Amino acid sequence: MKLSGTDHIELYVGDARQAAFYYCTAFGFRIAAQGGPETGLKGRRSLLLTQGDIRMVLTSPLGTDHPAAEFLHRHGDGVAVIALEVDDVEAAYEELVHRGAAPVAAPVRYAEGDAVVTTAEVSGFGDVTHRLVQRGGPRTEFLPGVFRMSDVDETAGGDLLRIIDHFAVCVPAGQLDATVAHYREVFGFAQIFEEYIEVGEQGMFSKVVQSPSKQITLTLIEPDTSRRRGQIDDFLTWHGGAGVQHVAFTTDGITSTVGALAARGVRFANTPPSYFDALAERVRDLAVPVEDLRAAGVLVDRDHWGQLLQIFTESMHVRRTLFLEIIERRGALTFGSGNIKALYEAKNRELSGVA
Ligand code: FE2
Repeated sequence: MKLSGTDHIELYVGDARQAAFYYCTAFGFRIAAQGGPETGLKGRRSLLLTQGDIRMVLTSPLGTDHPAAEFLHRHGDGVAVIALEVDDVEAAYEELVHRGAAPVAAPVRYAEGDAVVTTAEVSGFGDVTHRLVQRGGPRTEFLPGVFRMSDVDETAGGDLLRIIDHFAVCVPAGQLDATVAHYREVFGFAQIFEEYIEVGEQGMFSKVVQSPSKQITLTLIEPDTSRRRGQIDDFLTWHGGAGVQHVAFTTDGITSTVGALAARGVRFANTPPSYFDALAERVRDLAVPVEDLRAAGVLVDRDHWGQLLQIFTESMHVRRTLFLEIIERRGALTFGSGNIKALYEAKNRELSGVA
């Protein structure tokens, strides 16, 4: 079984058209395809948005009998599917189920002309599933026959976001190790990083698991219930259990990207000036001048291999659950302890209304 990368993600949202307007206008995505009852998608309407190599499907149920309705009732808008690219869906599905993943949907083949896409689905964490996707023939279709492609000018340029860097996933207290074990034993991932994050009186445990291809990374976080209740507990309450807390998109030139997004109305979690005062001492040979970082509110850290620059957006949802991260890697392959703490401190200020 070869899990090469993330093929796409699917969000269940209350209104796919309105969410698409937001993601396109604020974040620069484009509508690349759409489907609904008229294309053979039963009980739902879905829009495929693209930017860089990112594919994001927004799906809304049209009635109460589609599973998206139950998901939205429990969790509100959020990531429902992380789709993984595989070279052989049937073999991968069989192997994953044999190793302990719960089967969600048996393999289905979609074909139109020479384009063939096969998918199947297994459980991931909480109500989030992993769709296995195998693509054959020309890659001009998303799901041949059930998504109608739009005319997108691929030469238009101007993409600010490139690929999905990682997903951060909150799990209830006591489930972190079991979730890590699940990804190691069932999906063959390796644990690459581990951190205890202290934010004021609160604490959280974090472990990062990654696919052998290094293209799929999950940062798993559980609250430390021996400390004061904090934002991870809040996420679990507001979301209603385990779920994707943020999706991180890579960019080149993070300070100009953040400036462009802010000009379009995207709001970011704020970092206090003292962070930047101490930055030059903490990270030598900063990849970006500290004044540019300060102006954009971008955080910098380093790992063994290089630097990484990060910022969190505010959540755009009423439950204050899912948000996005923008990240630029200047050589760094993992994460840096200083940034994780600072990012969660900024998020704390936003959630407590101090920011
Ligand atoms: Fe992150």
